[in-house]
Amino acid sequence: MPAYTADQLHWKAVAHKVAEESVRPIAKKYDELQQYPWEVKDAMAKAGLMGVWIPKEYGGAGGGVGSLCVVIEELSRACGGVGVAYAVNALGSFPILLGGTEEQKKKWLPEIAAGRKLIAFGLSEKFAGSDAGSMRTQGKLDGEHYVINGEKKWCTNGGCADLFSVFCVTDPESKTRRISALLVEKGTPGFTIGKAEDKMGIRCVPVNELVFKDCRVSAKNLLGGKPGVGFKHAMQTLDHARPGVAAQAVGLAAGALELAQVYAQKRHQFGGPISSHQAVGFMLADMAMKVEAARLLVLEAGRLVDAAAPNVTKTAAMCKCYATDVAMEVTTNAVQIFGGYGFMKDYPIEKYMRDAKITQIYEGTNQVQRMVIARNLVKETTELDFLAKWIPTEVQKGGLDPVVEPAKA
Ligand code: CAA
Repeated sequence: MPAYTADQLHWKAVAHKVAEESVRPIAKKYDELQQYPWEVKDAMAKAGLMGVWIPKEYGGAGGGVGSLCVVIEELSRACGGVGVAYAVNALGSFPILLGGTEEQKKKWLPEIAAGRKLIAFGLSEKFAGSDAGSMRTQGKLDGEHYVINGEKKWCTNGGCADLFSVFCVTDPESKTRRISALLVEKGTPGFTIGKAEDKMGIRCVPVNELVFKDCRVSAKNLLGGKPGVGFKHAMQTLDHARPGVAAQAVGLAAGALELAQVYAQKRHQFGGPISSHQAVGFMLADMAMKVEAARLLVLEAGRLVDAAAPNVTKTAAMCKCYATDVAMEVTTNAVQIFGGYGFMKDYPIEKYMRDAKITQIYEGTNQVQRMVIARNLVKETTELDFLAKWIPTEVQKGGLDPVVEPAKA
């Protein structure tokens, strides 16, 4: 087991109990119904889980991203849908935590920490997914209000949240300060919850379009009280939230591995448990190695984010990308180990594979994560210049081919 802090061990035990008593038994039911499991939310709130990552001065437990990730892993071991239904409250609240005014933090964070209000994050649009900066939803200042017009897409928690961090264009002419974030409450005139998506996985959490038609929101709800810093807040939010997606992926992979371990031990073919056949034993060994490596990377990312270390962006992207690729591979192999049973909806294992797929896509596709990692590697390379003498001399100065002197007659 990794070297968890005392705080993380505490939250791991609390979340494990909630997961086994209140989540695993209902996972299939809500997957089929495609409905939000309100009783699970109540159990999580009762256990104090809804404010684990929120600082104590705003009503939370002060556990930071590290403890948040431990909780998400435990919940996702039992149900990946519940894992994200929980984690998305952290995603929605990070813009307030990172960029909100003191007044905004005091107004909203205690409500979220107590589980009285659910929150969601509205960034993506139909025509602005990976290229988040190209969003079109407008927020136009009109006296004391912003008037929002446009649509958001793939908003997790959309159908059940009370509060939304909504990113919109407040200065269309600006290149660097186009975007701001506004807090929008459910029920605000002009704001409706649009299409509910019918999904492959994470089916217990609603994912919706958000529709804004002349929706007037008080300028007091402008995050941080100043316009133009929304894109930066969105990016910082994602740096904080991506370890949580990675933790969801670790939970899914670990949960699938555990089921595959039990199955492979009990399932006898050719005169013995299939785990004793090298083909299956090596699969389980590879799965276990990757789950542990992913878990350690998540733990480290959480530690760095909580320590406000410089350049957490790369580590957050790395853990998100690595852990979610591991989740897809491990859950697919777990289905493989279950054989014919694995393909059937009678058993929970196929759900792990369906739930895992979205982790490679949301909060930035793994292609975007690789782009972020690669861009950061380029930046870091300036510090490696002392190694340049060890590369070919003709390459050392970079750029063009050396000028070739014309041959003398
Ligand atoms: N922290 C702080 N600032 C950052 C930053 C970071 N991590 N990343 C970028 N910035 C700043 C840059 O410094 C730059 O600032 P200046 O203008 O002052 O120079 C500005 O933001 C623009 O940066 P880039 O030029 O790098 O931006 P880009 O347009 O090339 O995009 C990107 C970068 C990484 C691809 C970004 O668009 C991105 O992360 N895309 C993926 C979006 C995403 O994850 N969407 C999922 C949303 S949530 C969801 O999935 C639904 C759900 O409900 C779960």
